[in-house]
Amino acid sequence: MGRITFVEHNGAKHPVEIEAGKSLMEAAVENGIPGIDADCGGACACGTCHVIVDKSWVESTGEMYASEEGMLAMTPEKTDTSRLSCQVTVSESMDGMVVHLPEFQM
Ligand code: FES
Repeated sequence: MGRITFVEHNGAKHPVEIEAGKSLMEAAVENGIPGIDADCGGACACGTCHVIVDKSWVESTGEMYASEEGMLAMTPEKTDTSRLSCQVTVSESMDGMVVHLPEFQM
């Protein structure tokens, strides 16, 4: 249905085919994207699926709940467009989206 590109901190790009309804974290893990550890399996409890959404795409990632905000607040590399990828549901409108990976996960 489309592609999302994960960009490592060193600039390496990883385009992946996306499937609507899955989480962004699942798309990353299933495609072996380095740096997405997802230790809690998507329960919004570990913060190891942190991504930084390209500014032009941040609105398409939807609203953030308090639990995600709280977890992100403990993330050293948090930015204005940070998200926990397990809390972002992939949709067809995300075709072409670019997300960046932090240098380190927690
Ligand atoms: S996978 Fe643990 S917070 Fe996202």
